[in-house]
Amino acid sequence: MSTSSDNNNSNGRGLWGSRLAFILAAAGSAVGLGNIWGFPTAAAENGGGGFVLIYILCIVLVGLPVMLAEMVIGRAGEKNPVGALKHLKPGTPWFLVGVLGVFTGFVILSFYTVIAGWTVYYFIQAAGGGLIVPEGQESAEYFGGLFREMTANPGYEILFVAVFTLATTAIVAAGVQKGIERSIKVMMPVLFILLVLLIGRAVTLEGAGEGFRFYLVPDFGEITWRTAVFALGQAFFSLSLGMGVMITYGSYLRKEECLPSSAGYVVATDTLIAVFAGLIVFPVIFFMAATQAVPLDDLVAEGAGLVFVIFPQILSELPGGTAATILFGAAFFLLLAIAALTSAISLMEVVTAHLVDDWKLDRRKAAWGLGGIIFVLAIPSALSFGAVEWLSEGGRFGISLFDLLYTLTFQLFLPVGALGLAIFVGWAWSLKKASEEIQKGTPNFRLEKLWHFMIRYVAPVAILIILINQIVGILGGD
Ligand code: PHE
Repeated sequence: MSTSSDNNNSNGRGLWGSRLAFILAAAGSAVGLGNIWGFPTAAAENGGGGFVLIYILCIVLVGLPVMLAEMVIGRAGEKNPVGALKHLKPGTPWFLVGVLGVFTGFVILSFYTVIAGWTVYYFIQAAGGGLIVPEGQESAEYFGGLFREMTANPGYEILFVAVFTLATTAIVAAGVQKGIERSIKVMMPVLFILLVLLIGRAVTLEGAGEGFRFYLVPDFGEITWRTAVFALGQAFFSLSLGMGVMITYGSYLRKEECLPSSAGYVVATDTLIAVFAGLIVFPVIFFMAATQAVPLDDLVAEGAGLVFVIFPQILSELPGGTAATILFGAAFFLLLAIAALTSAISLMEVVTAHLVDDWKLDRRKAAWGLGGIIFVLAIPSALSFGAVEWLSEGGRFGISLFDLLYTLTFQLFLPVGALGLAIFVGWAWSLKKASEEIQKGTPNFRLEKLWHFMIRYVAPVAILIILINQIVGILGGD
């Protein structure tokens, strides 16, 4: 049983202190590396504006209805995804969708903590002047070297995975109100301030206009099925949907709170921050292209390198010299580290809640045990950037283990999980009961009919079409 002294709800679990705390925690989960690192990278690799447009369609048509569905399941089921589905539909195999969610949580944590560890490393570098290119060195070489030194060195990688996992675990172990809520209330405002500071810098750079044009004006010729597959996967990942984060966080919410508007706030915050992250990254990239005559293709097609190699290169050339490099470099990587931490907390909370609710483990023991397991699971991914050859690109799996796990969650586990949850609410459980749960806090839920239609037909059909296309693509050797 929980030993934390959190406020308890009817079944002795934690409870958010206020609705704002719930919205901030859910937004903190959603806003993460997926927004600041993933979204600009995905947009750059998939043709800019066209991708952004399809992404927003996915958010509105699929993301928002599924977000509300997860919150409803959580609050009605009053448990983690496994326990909640068992509670709402006892004696059926529906809880397996929850099991997939818990499993997905482990997989995501095992690679997420690796990038999160890098952000901590880079923050320390940036704050200590490590992003200032030493006299006589080429900046491209210097930053390529810095990145390779980190990824090829198992000691660094493992150390920073450990630091990050320790922070995540300590917060989750302290409980819903004393750990998660308290830390989120400090971290989210800091995140907003850093974001505003960085946008202010980026939009006033030379070349910013070009960056905006590439990013925001759709080129319809570039939109393909691949764009849609990527956009939907990105939407689920970015909104933390399809694995029960919002079920778990929703289970700590009081009955009198309004679910539809909460879902709306979380989705809007996440989408805005993803779009804003692009507003930081693209102008900066185009500034580089404008001032250094670096070919644009080299700048946008770089995967992980975009944020960790190219971006620092640009930070080191900012007007304002050393001070500007230190200030904006540290701000950028601190932003990433905070965003990653608030997301990792939610991932770990899903698994912890499962152990506490369904296995009746003590929260502290569950969290610390999990922290240890996640640390061990993250090591192979950490070593798959060149430190261990058979785990890396060109090794046993063709792509790196990191990319393999990332692609699997993105393109398979999360969409399948979200499909399962949409079908559960739309067809298997009961739309009537779902509406009743919503009405406890929102007596006149005006969009009820629309939501029923979206969760019953639009969301499942859209996910299915995209999943089928993806499978056809894979079989066709795409
Ligand atoms: N939404 C987080 C991000 O954008 C990642 C995440 C996915 C967190 C799934 C929880 C669950 O980085």
